[in-house]
Amino acid sequence: MYTDNRPIGVFDSGIGGLTAVIELRRILPNEDIVYLGDTARVPYGTKSRETVLRYAEQDYDFLKNLGVKFTIAACGTVSSVMVGENAFAPAFCTGVIQPTVEAACRASKNKKIGVIATSASVRSGCYERLIKQISPEAEVFSRACPMFVPLVENGYTYRGCLPTEEFAREYLSPLKEQGIDALILGCTHYPLLSQIISDTVGSAVSLISSGAEAARYAEKLLREKGLLNKKSGAGSLKLYCTDSVELFRESAAHFIDLDGAEIEKCSLG
Ligand code: DGL
Repeated sequence: MYTDNRPIGVFDSGIGGLTAVIELRRILPNEDIVYLGDTARVPYGTKSRETVLRYAEQDYDFLKNLGVKFTIAACGTVSSVMVGENAFAPAFCTGVIQPTVEAACRASKNKKIGVIATSASVRSGCYERLIKQISPEAEVFSRACPMFVPLVENGYTYRGCLPTEEFAREYLSPLKEQGIDALILGCTHYPLLSQIISDTVGSAVSLISSGAEAARYAEKLLREKGLLNKKSGAGSLKLYCTDSVELFRESAAHFIDLDGAEIEKCSLG
């Protein structure tokens, strides 16, 4: 039986990729995890493809230099520009698109699938293309939700938060009207708005979290390759951010318990 005790690396433009970390810690509690949030340059979703690719390579290299065994690009925007690129080849890593689309195609019965993501991800058309490859009969309704990332980064995630509910209505009503029964939360920040999103589209619509799906996909790959950590005891979580540690801790504390986790400021590139 193989084993590999090196940490798993996870990165995102900000705190959204922590939705993958939450699921990783649930399903692989004894794995060590290193997280990088490029908080000094968030959001990525409004930037050009070239800029996002350059940032992604720097994020990836940072984690690689820390000796991770596997990397999750827990950022829909990065994942969407990586599709068709071999920027990280022959690296052992995953983005969020493939796992998320597979889960949505499994969840949807009427094959009307909604996709919400950043402008860059929606512009890339990658969710739609992959859904059609897996389910050619599917109808896909996509919508960019550019205000969601800043709302999440600033903690406006709770039910009853009027500005977020207003934007959710604006963005999601057209998708609801199309009769979707599954909705891809194609940006890893969006699962933090699940309650508001579900209230808006209705509880019958399955919400597919890109962060959680990428974590499950990583677990499957590591298990298949015999690269899971077999040590007993809880794994560690080390976090890096490129802007203020205090601000990072404050934003993340809305949804993840970081007590005891070390957070350090780093620079990239
Ligand atoms: N979590 C990132 C994503 O999944 C946020 C996007 C951004 O930085 O704009 O796309």
